[in-house]
Amino acid sequence: MNLETAKLAVIELTEQINAHNYAYYVLAQPTISDVEFDMLLQKLVSIETQYPQLVQAHSPSQRVGSDVVKSFNQVKHQYPMLSLGNTYSQADLHDFDERTRKLIGNNFEYVCELKFDGVAIGLTYVNGILQQAVTRGDGVQGDDVTANVKTIKSIPLQLHGNNYPSNFEIRGEIFLPRAEFDRLNQELILQLTDEGYNVDEINERLYRNPRNTASGTIKQQDSKLVAQRKLDCYLYNIFGDDLPFKNHYDALEKARSWGFKISEHSKLCKSIEAVFDFINHWDVKREQLPFDIDGIVLKVNDYAQQEELGYTAKSPRWAISYKFKAANKCTQLIDITYQVGRTGAITPVANLQPVLLAGTIVKRASLHNSDIIEKLDVRIGDMVFVEKGGEIIPKITGVDLEQRSSTSVPVTYITNCPECGTSLVRKPGEAVFYCTNELGCKPQIIGKLQHFTSRKAMNIEGLGEETVTLLFNHGLLNNVADIYELQKDRLVGLERMGDKTATNILNGIEKSKSVGFEKVLFALGIRYVGDTVAKKLAFHFKSLTNLKEANVEALLEAPEVGDKIAQSILNFFQEKNNQETIQKLKLHGLQFELSVNETSNISNKLAGLIIVTTGTLKNFKRDEINDVIAKHGGKSSGSVSSKTSFVLAGESPGENKINKANQLQIAIKTEEEFIRLLND
Ligand code: IVH
Repeated sequence: MNLETAKLAVIELTEQINAHNYAYYVLAQPTISDVEFDMLLQKLVSIETQYPQLVQAHSPSQRVGSDVVKSFNQVKHQYPMLSLGNTYSQADLHDFDERTRKLIGNNFEYVCELKFDGVAIGLTYVNGILQQAVTRGDGVQGDDVTANVKTIKSIPLQLHGNNYPSNFEIRGEIFLPRAEFDRLNQELILQLTDEGYNVDEINERLYRNPRNTASGTIKQQDSKLVAQRKLDCYLYNIFGDDLPFKNHYDALEKARSWGFKISEHSKLCKSIEAVFDFINHWDVKREQLPFDIDGIVLKVNDYAQQEELGYTAKSPRWAISYKFKAANKCTQLIDITYQVGRTGAITPVANLQPVLLAGTIVKRASLHNSDIIEKLDVRIGDMVFVEKGGEIIPKITGVDLEQRSSTSVPVTYITNCPECGTSLVRKPGEAVFYCTNELGCKPQIIGKLQHFTSRKAMNIEGLGEETVTLLFNHGLLNNVADIYELQKDRLVGLERMGDKTATNILNGIEKSKSVGFEKVLFALGIRYVGDTVAKKLAFHFKSLTNLKEANVEALLEAPEVGDKIAQSILNFFQEKNNQETIQKLKLHGLQFELSVNETSNISNKLAGLIIVTTGTLKNFKRDEINDVIAKHGGKSSGSVSSKTSFVLAGESPGENKINKANQLQIAIKTEEEFIRLLND
């Protein structure tokens, strides 16, 4: 393909892909299959790789993002980004309506819109191409997040048709659909469970709500990561000189025809009563939307009338928002059950009369621990208020005492494990009760076995969660070391277990003996040692023996390790039972040290170089960067001298080091340049 044909192909493919993209993400009516779509995109990317000069700013290939980390430029808004006056009462809306009538008379209409709960964004289009995307910031200036915004599939990179203004700004709300928010949290729950966190600790770490998550995502510096979270965007206001429309409603209809995602639910209302109908409708129906709204926005439709009404210092006089109260329902507490986790932590769970709340049916709510039960004084049979606040698991916020039965009694918290009967203990400073019967409590044993064989740990094919439970129930597995003593004749004949399946399992077990030390360390299930921490520990200590012999000080020197993790590691190795298990696993041939490959250098890209690091790096921790430099054959030094090869400067670098480097004419590299050097 020569340059000329490549150019034509790029134009043709860009148009095709953008059209399919619009059909899928804006209209929700896909025109081709995912595979066909990927093939078109791959074709475009391959031509662009061959002819980089043909990559256009609005190429669909830009939507995948880039992991080149950069900070955001501050951009001044051409039109200040104002906010809206808020109200929670219909009486206030009556006042707003009366004020408006006094100023412009009775001949006007309102546009009622949903108030999307996300992050405001201003998009500038020049000649139909997305030029810049800026966050609200302080209203006067915001962050240029164009690279991130380009990854949002429903935002057109190139507009449809040709009757759009040559230069205009359109504003809207970037949001995270609820399903995507739930997916991200489910992923996080799996990861944190793997790392041994209990329900309380997991709840603390979950994404709070779709709005915060959207806001955090759009400010991510790595646009590849943004592309992985499926943000979406509704547009609701247009700004520009000499816009070719007379009112807001027409403007939105036109914007829809240019390819923007405009809500179908906006409505023209001639009276404040019609506005109340709209509010009452959506206060109930909002639960069925696939995204969060926190109210409705009321705008005077006509542009000339908007101008007449004008602005206060902070907000327009032609618009106001009405906010809904937080989603909250009253339902009956049927009973409280207690769950035992892999670590023995007990979590009380409220079983509720199912109720529809913010789009999902709620049957269970977390009660966290005995303190919370006592504080709320919830009793079985009570009518309780359930709220979906930040947490993914709804919580009980109170009891309707008026509906309480006179025969109800306070909850007596269990004193023994519901699974094995062992007396529960409470560790000092913790609100959670634990079952200490680590070796004899079924959910703890099964949980540990399942963790050991899981994908991120020993990754034993054939030993999924169900099979592990089956083998436990038949008395074949009681401890992770038993896995390596399984014999074929004991397996064959169990439910759904033929010769072939048994052979597969044994092969999987054999294969796991070569799984790297960092995974073995993770598989051991030390509390708070998730896969990332395990990796860091493995590279830092190189062998289990070194890790086992490390005292608190030595542990705290390792990357990512704080008091909590250090203490947990010490406790783990003190347990006699853990020592025995490790001994058995060692005899079975598992990897308890890094292989020669892993301990030796990753590359020689920095061989012979002496590097001084200053300032805060985004991708490496202070204590990590020296390891990274060493692994690539380089040396780190604390001060700049004529021997320094280059200075690696992060954010807020030390002034002295930079001055010295300039004086000695020593190169200063940014973190991105450094990463590129390693990746080249
Ligand atoms: S119009 C000058 N319309 O709510 C008024 N805002 O509290 C510009 N919002 O900053 C805003 N949905 O982030 C408007 N349909 C909608 C909206 C909306 C959500 C957000 C927006 C704004 C905030 C004001």
